[in-house]
Formats: sequence, structure tokens, C-alpha cells
Amino acid sequence: MSEPLSDHPQILSDTPNIDAPPIDTPTTDPEPKPFEVQFATRVNRLPPYMFGRINNSLYQKRRAGDDVIDLGMGNPSDPPDPLVIEKLHTAAADPGNHGYSKSNGIANLRRELASKYYRKYGVNLDPEHETIACLGSKEGFSHMCLALMGAGDTAIIPSPFFPVHMYGVILAGGNVVSLDVADPNKFLRDVAFTCENMEPKPKVLIVNYPHNPTSAVIEPDFFIDVVRLAKKYGFLVIHDFAYADVAFDGYLPPSFLAAPGAKDVGVEFTTMSKGYNMAGWRVGFCAGNSEMIRGLATIKGYYDYGMFQAVQIAAIVAMRETEATVAKQSEIYQGRRDVLVGGLKRLGWNVNPPKAGMFVWAEVPEPWKSSMSTMDFAMKLLEEGNVAVSPGSGFGSGGEGFLRMSLVENEQRLRQAVRQIGKCLSPQAVA
Ligand SMILES: Cc1ncc(COP(=O)(O)O)c(C=O)c1O
Repeated sequence: MSEPLSDHPQILSDTPNIDAPPIDTPTTDPEPKPFEVQFATRVNRLPPYMFGRINNSLYQKRRAGDDVIDLGMGNPSDPPDPLVIEKLHTAAADPGNHGYSKSNGIANLRRELASKYYRKYGVNLDPEHETIACLGSKEGFSHMCLALMGAGDTAIIPSPFFPVHMYGVILAGGNVVSLDVADPNKFLRDVAFTCENMEPKPKVLIVNYPHNPTSAVIEPDFFIDVVRLAKKYGFLVIHDFAYADVAFDGYLPPSFLAAPGAKDVGVEFTTMSKGYNMAGWRVGFCAGNSEMIRGLATIKGYYDYGMFQAVQIAAIVAMRETEATVAKQSEIYQGRRDVLVGGLKRLGWNVNPPKAGMFVWAEVPEPWKSSMSTMDFAMKLLEEGNVAVSPGSGFGSGGEGFLRMSLVENEQRLRQAVRQIGKCLSPQAVA
């Protein structure tokens, strides 16, 4: 008999040279056995998709011809700058752009990212070793988890959480501690407390500002403290900076990499999905610590062949030449924010205008907050008001009692959404 299997994966044989006998051909077909597909434990550890109920109902309503105003997903509905689409056309017409590209991203794309970091944040990056392109930042993030985390490793994540911050770690086999994100100073104190009291200590800290779903933001000093704690307790930092380019009222979301010493301890993910309206293009980046980038590159080298080269070329043009369009898009979101927040306040809701990101994070008003779950309240708005929102509980128990509303519909539709919400919650509607 062979050795008992260890807990760790092993390559059992990479040179199969067994002289196997011919396979018997049965003369009569055996009783067909029910054929079962058994998923791996990592799949069974995932909870049911929290937005499934909302999405099903939304789908059924739309099939029935209802005009549902969808504030559920943060899926940008405006197009990219025409210059970027034009560049995609010309690059796609070039026969040289259709083969496999570089898994890490072409050099010019990585150079453009480094230029943008320097222009916008004064951060110097070596494009070759300190940047990498990803098939969207979500892909990069989850593969970074695979590069860093394994059985017995723990990551600290924000609560409530963007799902991949939790499940990227879980799928990599790691454990998660989630800490309340609402007050950044308290969050840092809780990080320090967790590191002081946990053995083995957390290996990775995942941060995300501007935060999805709560829209919480921070000032640059926050990251100085993060670097200090990382060095003190020896954890690595991953900053998800997906909403870097969407900010309001003159607020500039700070880059983690601008904090002194940040590159010693961590990386930052950015994306072209939000500010550039290129969500379907799947262009994201990771920048910072060269060893962490090397780990991600190693995993990606096994899993993917990189991004369509025409998309990479168009993305270079987007970063180089369309900053004004990105700024204008933020103004559009700011106008929508004002309409939605103003309307909800008039309905008597307790809601703060976000300084950045694509979401309004609104507390469920009374008496509904005390009388039904956030999921049921979101279903009520959909079923009776034809407005789809994300229940905060879809982002973990820390989101219970809140709704996330995306600013992806235009101002007129947002006004209409507020009217429909008001109507479905009015005393007459309850009666
Ligand atoms: C916080 C956060 N990170 C990452 C992503 C994914 O971005 P990408 O389109 O680059 O994969 C999103 C998208 O909604 C997000 O909200």
C-alpha cells in the first residue's frame, strides 16, 4: 500500500508509464448508477448567493414587463470615452493583436499605470517589478489571496464586506476576522487589538477605501498608521482602491502607496471598471510590493494568458487622454447622489451623502427596521415599489439594517425611484 495521504497536496506521479491491461468490454450494460457530481469542500463552504432572491424577482418582474428601477449592482451604465472605443476598433483591426498577450500586461500598459500613479499621487513605481495588469481587479485580488493565503492563515477584512474580500480568502483556504469599518480610527484600534491577542497573528490586512458597500472614506494619515501597524505586527496589506477615480466635492481618495514605507508591506488594486466606465472590459491593476506582485504573477502564469491586447492598447489611451472624462463622470455621480440623498431625506430617512464611490448607504427607516429583516424590506421595495436595491445583509451581518443603493440610474430615474419608494411605504400603502 502507498503512504497515507498528507494534508498537503502532492504530485503523485508526473511520469505515468504503467503498463495497464486492456479495459474489459462488458457484454451486457450494467445497471445505470445515479451519477453524482461532488463539489470540492471549498465550494461547499460557500454560502448561498445572498442576492439570488432579489435577482430572481427582478428578472421575473422584467419578464412580466414591469419597469424596475435597478439600484442593485454597481454596474456603470454610461459608456467609456469615444476615443477609447475608437482605439479599441483600430487595435482590434490589427492582425498582430489577436494572439495570446503577456499574462502580466504589456510593458506600455504597465508604464502608463506607473505614470498615472506619479501624476496623481506622486508615487514612483517600477513598472516591470511593481505593477501587473489583471483581468479586472477582482480576478487579481482573488489570485493574490491564492498567492498569500492557505490553511491556518488569517486575514482581517472590513465589515460589512464586499463579497470577494471574504470569499477570496475562504476559497484560498484561509480564515477571516471581520472588523467594523464605519469609524476608521476604531477599525485601526481593532486591528491592533486583534494582532495583540491572536495566535498565530493575522497574515494579511485587507482594506478598501472608499469602501463598498458603506462609502466610508479616510484621510492619508490612515495609511501611515496602517504601515506602522503592518511593520509592528508583521502583516501584509492589500488595499482595494476600486473607487479611486469616483469622488465628490473636491475630495481626493488617498492612495495607500503614497504612505511612506507602503511598498515594504503591501499592494494596491485599482480598476478601470468604475471611473472609466469600462467594467465589461476587465482591466484592473495591482501595484506595490514587488514580492507580492511576483507571487500574483506566478499564480496568473498558471491560470491565464493575459488580456486581449487591443483592450490593453485602448486602456493606455484611456489613462493617458481621458482624465477629463473621468472627472466629468464623477460630477455625474455627484449630481445623482444629491438627487437620491435629498429625496430620501425628504422621506425622513437617515442618510449621509457619500464623499466618494458609487453608492448611497442608507439606514432602513423605522418602523420597518425593527419589524422586518433588511432582506424582506429590500424585497418589499422591489415587489411593491418596483425599485431594486441591495440589502446590507448581503455584505455580511455588519450590513443588517442598511441598504446599498447604486448611482447607476440617471437623475430622472432616481427621482422616480424616490417617489415609488415613498408611495410603497406611505401609511395608505400599509393600510
Ligand atoms: C470594492 C470593489 N472591489 C473590486 C471590484 C471589482 O472590480 P473589477 O471590475 O475591476 O473586477 C468592485 C466592483 O464592484 C468593488 O466594488
